[in-house]
Amino acid sequence: MPTDAKQDTDSAGGGGSDNAYCAPGPLPGSAELLEPLLMVEQLSKSFKTNDGNTLVVLKDLSLTIRNIKHKPQVVSLLGPSGAGKTTALRIMAGLDKPTAGCVRLSEGEGKPLRETRVGDVGVVFQRYPLFDDINVLNNLIEPAVRAGMAKQAARDKALRLLDEFDMVKQGLAWPQQLSGGQRQRVAILQQLMQDRHFIILDEPFSGLDPVNIINVIDLIVSTANQHTLNTFIIVTHDVTSALIVSDTVFLLGRPRDGKDSPIPGARVMKQYDLIAEGLAYRPDIEDLPRFSEIRKEIKLVEFPRL
Ligand SMILES: Nc1ncnc2c1ncn2[C@@H]1O[C@H](COP(=O)(O)OP(=O)(O)OP(=O)(O)O)[C@@H](O)[C@H]1O
Ligand SMILES: [Mg+2]
Repeated sequence: MPTDAKQDTDSAGGGGSDNAYCAPGPLPGSAELLEPLLMVEQLSKSFKTNDGNTLVVLKDLSLTIRNIKHKPQVVSLLGPSGAGKTTALRIMAGLDKPTAGCVRLSEGEGKPLRETRVGDVGVVFQRYPLFDDINVLNNLIEPAVRAGMAKQAARDKALRLLDEFDMVKQGLAWPQQLSGGQRQRVAILQQLMQDRHFIILDEPFSGLDPVNIINVIDLIVSTANQHTLNTFIIVTHDVTSALIVSDTVFLLGRPRDGKDSPIPGARVMKQYDLIAEGLAYRPDIEDLPRFSEIRKEIKLVEFPRL
């Protein structure tokens, strides 16, 4: 797994500017936040239920992900089951339309934000579906070719990614021959094939044992570190993993009315800036007292009220 965070110009679609490199390890001093890369603005989503009522799932959900100088962006959307995380993810990826509001993203440095479209954002779904009738290598090549990549270029890149992420041996395997953790790595590599800077992962830690959770965290961090514009959005209810992997955690939940009853429609209830807290980019984060404090606060105080 690469620890050198130098930009991969091939997969990142150009670069070479000062901003094209990621700094490994903690940032000296405080982080410099640059232009917004992705903005979720006043997003609302309601569904008609089978009994004819309206279910308000999201209400005025807003968040901004800014470019961090010399670093990729890894943020978590953290909330309990049923909070509306996958609903928000599908809208952010352009797969569903919101009832109100919009999601805008940057096409590159210095370019104005524009509304997100299908294909802008790579999505790794919770069950990481793969094509079971073709081998792992072709699972990487075929979607990229269908998206317009030349076959030889796709093959070269797939072989390089398999090598880079220690999966050469699995290249000729069928998806059914992989463990859950390996299937997930292939699903993430599928997204990396397509030169996207934005990738959303839905519950990437669920169903994995502690060793595989660490493997996924390492994979996210090392792939994110290939370019400072890379932006990973982790949708999860796993508090510990979210704090370990992220620079920012957005808590998604519902506010309460005067009688302490939840008001329909989830939104961002709290934001943890882990760079300012001195917790981001720290391999020893789990040993830091502030990590334990925040984790406890989220688990015991915030989560039960979301
Ligand atoms: N297409 C749909 N039609 C009707 N209701 C829906 C639809 N999609 C989601 N919902 C409802 O929206 C709410 C939020 O669902 P969502 O899947 O976004 O939650 P989540 O936070 O991802 O939960 P989990 O952690 O369990 O994955 C749920 O009450 C769900 O039943
Ligand atoms: Mg979900």
